[in-house]
Amino acid sequence: EDNRRESLMVVSAFAAKFFQESLLETAEGQNIGLSYFKERGFREDIIRKFELGYSPDNWDAFSTAAIKQNYQQEFLLESGLSVKRDNGTLYDRYRGRVMFPIHSFTGRVVGFGGRTLKNDKSVPKYVNSPESEIYHKSSILYGLYFAKKAIRETDNCYLVEGYADVISVYQAGIENVVASSGTSLTVEQIRLIGRSTKNITILYDGDAAGIKAALRGLDLILEEGLNVKVVTFPDGHDPDSFVRKVGTAAFKTYIDQHQKDFILYKTSTLLKDAGNDPIKKAEVIREIVESIAKIPDSIKASVFVKECSLLLQMDERSLLTELNKMRLAKS
Ligand code: GTP
Ligand code: MN
Ligand code: MN
Ligand code: MN
Ligand code: MN
Repeated sequence: EDNRRESLMVVSAFAAKFFQESLLETAEGQNIGLSYFKERGFREDIIRKFELGYSPDNWDAFSTAAIKQNYQQEFLLESGLSVKRDNGTLYDRYRGRVMFPIHSFTGRVVGFGGRTLKNDKSVPKYVNSPESEIYHKSSILYGLYFAKKAIRETDNCYLVEGYADVISVYQAGIENVVASSGTSLTVEQIRLIGRSTKNITILYDGDAAGIKAALRGLDLILEEGLNVKVVTFPDGHDPDSFVRKVGTAAFKTYIDQHQKDFILYKTSTLLKDAGNDPIKKAEVIREIVESIAKIPDSIKASVFVKECSLLLQMDERSLLTELNKMRLAKS
């Protein structure tokens, strides 16, 4: 109920403050956490704005401080900030990690992502908050609180994969950026964006996983009636690494020159695998028409059919026939 939610948000705010102070005001935080962020090129004003932090490399520094301040064990446990030992005492979920607080639409801290500083495959790179009464990962977008004004102003939303991508792209002056961190894109997240803009540009990682996620995300976005474009980065790059490599101006130019509408994106991605094989090519065309069939607005759909026919040198009427068949099969 509301009191419990409020208690969870209050303890989360305390935690964000604790992690921020340990980043900025303790020797361990400065030497390890802050220097890590600086190496990644994060500016101090951005670190403060996003309330980034550091969790001390200690079993219970946070839990002990929270208990001392009279925060209740129940809420420390439900928020996932603390974990209970067999003997009933608490230890910290996040230890020796740089911390990314996750804000609600109204700017309250509702969860965390914590990144390890170790280059050790046996520890998870990111540890995220568990589901709780205030943290439903399927309906939260990292960065939305900071991005929402710019999303309205530009009438567009850039969608990236990770926390670091949001920070770097925002820092580059592109403030209309959010991430579906820790989960693949959901319908709830798309609807959340849809309240501010009907236009989404996907900026996922330039690896096989990123391409697969983009193809999936694109169909979901079309089904929700929004417009979608995709930018592909050179293999091995994500928006964070790419903007750091080429700088802000070249990054913006790259996005402008490489953004593809979904037909162009699907065609170029899928045709690459099809080569000259006519059967495979037919499958690609079918895939694209399937995506078009997901668009609720039939005028918009017919514009894409035209584009598709030009791009693939296909008779527009046979594409339309196929489209109508798929539509009928769906309804
Ligand atoms: P950096 O290495 O810090 O640049 O991270 P990244 O964001 O580029 O990571 P990656 O592309 O591997 O993953 C994208 C997003 O998926 C991350 O920002 C996290 O939200 C999530 N993620 C990555 N690794 C893990 C993990 O080990 N556990 C969980 N729960 N989520 C992860
Ligand atoms: Mn709820
Ligand atoms: Mn990746
Ligand atoms: Mn990255
Ligand atoms: Mn990445």
